[in-house]
Amino acid sequence: MKVLVTGGLGYIGSHTVVELQQEGFEVVIIDNLSNSRIEVLDQITSITGIKPQFEQFDLLDKEKVSDFFNTNRVDGVIHFAASKAVGESVEKPLLYYQNNLGSLLNLLQAMLRTDQDHFIFSSSCTVYGQADVLPITENAPIKPAESPYGNTKKISEDVLSDVVKAHDFHAIALRYFNPIGAHPSAKIGELPLGVPQNLIPYVTQTAAGIREQLSVFGDDYPTPDGTAIRDYIHVVDLAKAHIVALKRLVQKEYQSPIEFFNIGTGMGSSVLEVIQAFEKATQQKLNYKIVDRRAGDITAAYADTTLANTTLGWRAEKSLEEALKDAWEWQLQQK
Ligand code: UFG
Repeated sequence: MKVLVTGGLGYIGSHTVVELQQEGFEVVIIDNLSNSRIEVLDQITSITGIKPQFEQFDLLDKEKVSDFFNTNRVDGVIHFAASKAVGESVEKPLLYYQNNLGSLLNLLQAMLRTDQDHFIFSSSCTVYGQADVLPITENAPIKPAESPYGNTKKISEDVLSDVVKAHDFHAIALRYFNPIGAHPSAKIGELPLGVPQNLIPYVTQTAAGIREQLSVFGDDYPTPDGTAIRDYIHVVDLAKAHIVALKRLVQKEYQSPIEFFNIGTGMGSSVLEVIQAFEKATQQKLNYKIVDRRAGDITAAYADTTLANTTLGWRAEKSLEEALKDAWEWQLQQK
């Protein structure tokens, strides 16, 4: 079976390509290299022994997308390619709406026109905002988005919901909680451009001496230690969720033409707990200080993963310590 992975050289995409290849899928990657490096292709190849087909172009190029589906038949599409920096999306909303929605529309149009089905969409727990009830189930109300980035995830889910109603088309949206870690081989991982915005790359860069000090954004949240709580999931566990979702689509096991699943561990960890777990897992001392809250941050989010556990037969297997250790091993590989 052949699968198209858009954004397949990015952080989650590259880990998913590895898992797909190891499960025997033939993979074709489309990536414009806007936030990824071509070297990742060789790294994937060195892990799996198989070089994926690679096409370098932008999904906003409608003609290229159309040509691709004219000349390739795939059993499914896993769509990662998107802009993902929350802060940048506030400054450049049109860029985010154009990139994230334009590429989705071009893909869907070409797939429908060439009669190709099965779509897995990278969604986010950001659609729940600050949920009123924890852990968060898939039935929790969708809240107004806090950023244009978050809004593109919500709108994309809506687009897919409308498309599956109108056409013979099937999709699964995976709502990721906080992906962290790297492949245990330390050959692929997260490659943040410039100063990291997310917690774990900031932690590993601080421990590596690239950043002087980690700022902990707020210790006055209504949580046991005052710092914000998230559900941190190992990127390899997350990657594996895409394979089971893809099989569900291909084997027509779905119960409705679009399904939504939370993909997390089900466990919440505070920022201070993450720091402690990192120090324990890596034997590194972390220099940090408490600063003010970061604008737009929520207090706590962690998944109820019952639906994914029972319906997909998937569950996260790796611990927070393991994810942090793998993130650290990956950091040590960076020059
Ligand atoms: N944090 C710090 N210091 C830092 C970076 C982060 O204390 O230098 C804290 C944040 O305040 C937050 C936690 O660490 O409490 C996690 O922050 P991240 O930036 O790693 O992750 P977020 O939960 O803010 O964002 C993630 C994804 C987004 C997505 C969002 C949905 O990165 O793409 O979840 O809630 F939109």
